[in-house]
Amino acid sequence: MAGHPVEHADPDRGHPLVLSPYGAEEVIGAIEVLLSTRVTMGERVRAFEEEWARYCGSGHGVMVNSGSSAVLLMLAAMVETGQLQPGDEVLCPAVTWSTSLFPIAQCGLVPVVVDVDPKTLCISPKSVREARGPRTRAVLAVHLLGQPADMAAFDDLIVLEDACGAHGAMYQGRRVGGIGRAAAFSFFFSHHISTIEGGMIVTEDRAFADTLRSLRAHGWVRERSDRADWAARCPQVDPRFLFVSSGYNLRPTEIAGAFGLVQARRLPAWLERRRANHAAWCAELASLVEVFPEAPGTEHAGFAFPMITSGDRASLMAALEAEGIETRPISGSNLVRQPAFERVVGARAPVPLPVADRVHTHGLFVGNHHAFGPAHGARLRRIIERWSQA
Ligand SMILES: Cc1ncc(COP(=O)(O)O)c(C=O)c1O
Repeated sequence: MAGHPVEHADPDRGHPLVLSPYGAEEVIGAIEVLLSTRVTMGERVRAFEEEWARYCGSGHGVMVNSGSSAVLLMLAAMVETGQLQPGDEVLCPAVTWSTSLFPIAQCGLVPVVVDVDPKTLCISPKSVREARGPRTRAVLAVHLLGQPADMAAFDDLIVLEDACGAHGAMYQGRRVGGIGRAAAFSFFFSHHISTIEGGMIVTEDRAFADTLRSLRAHGWVRERSDRADWAARCPQVDPRFLFVSSGYNLRPTEIAGAFGLVQARRLPAWLERRRANHAAWCAELASLVEVFPEAPGTEHAGFAFPMITSGDRASLMAALEAEGIETRPISGSNLVRQPAFERVVGARAPVPLPVADRVHTHGLFVGNHHAFGPAHGARLRRIIERWSQA
């Protein structure tokens, strides 16, 4: 119904990657912002930051204009605070989104790309052990498509979470985002909750959050909790234009904050449906394609539904698309096989990537969404069964 988030979708009318996630409440929030004329980042963004950080079990949230910006800023702040030094190696799974990988090099760090686990498609603990060297300092734990990575696999490495597609997922009783030193989220249109475009970093560390706030907005002190200290230390500079780091401008608008506040309240009910879909569809399809059931000790957030076929992927995708089921490769698949990999300064892949390669050639995903249900899984089974018998 127009003006409301889509809550129930008829599978016979198609199975898109995404349905409209917002309704009248978000629009009213946005209109209130516009009418107030206080449209640049302000109190609604701050309120959403607090609410999201609390939800993740973390102390501080810093909202930005995308998930990609969140990953970039998180890594930039690690360098700015000296927790990582230029030239340090950061392990990154080969199967993830492009802008999980690129910011590592953009921040002067060295991306070391490793294989993913065949059961979860998240970073492989075995590959992490094999690829670690004397300069390896950190790992970017990507919770791919809603499945939490194995967070026990990283020993003494600094763990940064890319939770851009895993809102609300749980790992051994803890919500993703509140486990590593910091975590990045995306609120793009197709994600669990959306601010149209948007992202956030959460962290327990107040000083790190202050660095993020400077880097987010011009390098200035304005949103920092210690801005008065900086002003006292630099009496020769007007505190309104006091710059303390070399920053970017990655701020969200206040409209995004208004959206986020409403969307966050909707998430728990939506997550239940996504997780139930994931479990039900895995059961439906397990005999036809490789599926990825929730790993023990985790709660899957069901972002998109990945599969690997032993048959011809292009023909399976065509069969699904012909029935109105939208498909995509599994994120960037093996990023080492992407032309852009050559342009990622210093990036290397020191261990074999057989699982990522299989994802690259035989993997695909279809949409999961809170408006979908068991009937979508049953329809997928019928279509894939027919395709496999043809
Ligand atoms: C794992 C991962 N990281 C980063 C991003 C980038 O987020 P955004 O599209 O908001 O820039 C995405 C987007 O889906 C993602 O899935």
